[in-house]
Amino acid sequence: MTKPEIRTFDDLEHLSWAVAARFEELACIKAIEKKTFTAALSGGSTPKLLYEILGSPAFAGRVRWPNVHLFQVDERCVGPDDPDSNYRLIRRAMLESSPLPEGNFHRMAAERPDREQAARDYTEDLARILRPAPGEFPRLELVLLGMGPDGHTASFFPGSAALDEQAAWVVPNYAEKLNAFRLTLTLPVLNAAAHVIFMVTGTDKAATLREVLEGPAELFPAQRIRPARGRVSWFVDGGAAQLLSPAARG
Ligand code: 6PG
Repeated sequence: MTKPEIRTFDDLEHLSWAVAARFEELACIKAIEKKTFTAALSGGSTPKLLYEILGSPAFAGRVRWPNVHLFQVDERCVGPDDPDSNYRLIRRAMLESSPLPEGNFHRMAAERPDREQAARDYTEDLARILRPAPGEFPRLELVLLGMGPDGHTASFFPGSAALDEQAAWVVPNYAEKLNAFRLTLTLPVLNAAAHVIFMVTGTDKAATLREVLEGPAELFPAQRIRPARGRVSWFVDGGAAQLLSPAARG
């Protein structure tokens, strides 16, 4: 893994447009290569504006949408219309207004009572589009992640059993802190990606961000994101970056 890129922005709006521009650039490269562009999207509140930008008329012509396949990083075990559903957030912010063909968004059906089967079915979806060589993990071009003030990312909370998963691509994971199950792509899949972008804002995440990026020890799930053949970028706002050393701020 190369040294992480850290970019600091004045506010969420500038940060979101910059991530949208990176999405466009990566999608364009794949379109020129006549290959499919694949990305996995997180939930949470931070990426909502990004998804609105990607679904806006301004973006309709900037990306060859039929060439794009979007997956979910993780999903809460609730129905697709539940206010907690990550899919609902993405659908309302982006999919309802985007020219992305309906079949090119791959929803994690985490509300299914048989979560293991839901995880296996999502694994098949990934395999069908990404077609990794036998024995390899699928290589997404872009993974968008957030981070909580406790250093969790995707659905990996400190102490989560799923942090130890080394073989499966998708697993159900119980988040003790939330007393709830979620479905999540596993660390080997996230770490097989070509590009990982963390979007982090707010002063409540500043101390954790400093520990994650500059701390002496590995204490947080977000530090487990280390793509062997990929690049990690941190797109952060001034509030989240306020405790970083000047050299790290970018
Ligand atoms: C989710 C996410 C989760 C999120 C962080 C940050 O389903 O909630 O995938 O990992 O990215 O909790 O969330 P905020 O953007 O709301 O701070």
